[in-house]
Amino acid sequence: MSKKICLTGVKPTEMPHLGNYIGAIKPAIEMSNNGEYDGYLFIADYHSLIGVHKGNDLRDYIYEVAAVWLACGLDPEKTTLYKQSDIPEILELNWILNCFSSKGILNRAHAYKAKVADNEEHGRDQDYGINAGLYNYPTLMAADILFIDSDIVPVGEDQIQHIEITRDIANAFNHHYGDILKLPEAKAREGALLPGLDGRKMSKSYHNHIPLFIPEKKLKKMINKITTDSTPPEAPKDPNESLIFDIYKFFATKEEQEALAKRYQEGIGWGHAKLELFDVVNAELAPMRERYDLYMSDKSLIDKILEDGAQKVREKASAKLKTIKQAIGVSN
Ligand code: ADP
Ligand code: TRP
Repeated sequence: MSKKICLTGVKPTEMPHLGNYIGAIKPAIEMSNNGEYDGYLFIADYHSLIGVHKGNDLRDYIYEVAAVWLACGLDPEKTTLYKQSDIPEILELNWILNCFSSKGILNRAHAYKAKVADNEEHGRDQDYGINAGLYNYPTLMAADILFIDSDIVPVGEDQIQHIEITRDIANAFNHHYGDILKLPEAKAREGALLPGLDGRKMSKSYHNHIPLFIPEKKLKKMINKITTDSTPPEAPKDPNESLIFDIYKFFATKEEQEALAKRYQEGIGWGHAKLELFDVVNAELAPMRERYDLYMSDKSLIDKILEDGAQKVREKASAKLKTIKQAIGVSN
């Protein structure tokens, strides 16, 4: 039996942070490298176009996101990496699916709804500053997923609604033409959340994040910004009450954690604890940072991988689109 298809997309925006790495990138790569699924990871550049309207910015983000995933260990032999905009069939399917997407459901999609609510709160016209791309975001996502018969779609919690919408659209299509589109399952990412510099969940929106690949010196500086209290260095400390230790756990081995916990009990200055944290974080990131810099200094390496990925995917895309176009009656 052939393997199940596991597909996910990432929007090219600014550099991911350590929380994204721990919660999304690292587990996705572990999953794709274990060979259980036929894996696809694509760069959702047309989704970013909804908000990024500077060509050079979008170009940079696309390379950065590709370089991040490759540097973190994505193996393009095992997981096909491609760019959404290289697959024109996705856009053809997008239009077709628009004709099966209920406007009422799109009205309720969370990103659009949140913008409308924000406009209303500020006394503006409800559609102020909203482009139709944002409105149709879920339909483009449905095309991303359905063109390749995806079985499993790993996503963050906030994206589950979009997978539900994809299933609705596929059902509406299949209702007319038979079982042509495969209904995907969302696989919600779960697991502990990495705290940020102030102790809340690390998030771009809280500005408490550490970007994944920054120079070593900068990483050390950022780790030094972690909020601590004024307990004197010699006082015994409880590792379970320490933000530094909370972050440490995500990067250190069991033995390293036990050793640092012991030092906490004996009394450790926050400066020293931060140095220990820097050491484990940097040990994990340094080899990846080196690979990241390598890809970014020779972008043709990335171009080649994306081209190979697109070539592989387009074969499947055109076969699927042919079936769909025959079904809807625009081709024989
Ligand atoms: P942000 O909150 O910075 O905007 P995103 O929502 O873009 O982050 O996060 C993308 C994915 O990264 C999420 O779906 C989640 O799986 C993961 N993620 C984000 N922040 C964290 C965190 N602090 N700890 C663990 N995983 C996280
Ligand atoms: N909307 C997703 C996000 O913001 C990215 C995305 C686009 C995606 N198309 C997809 C994810 C298809 C999974 C499947 O994270």
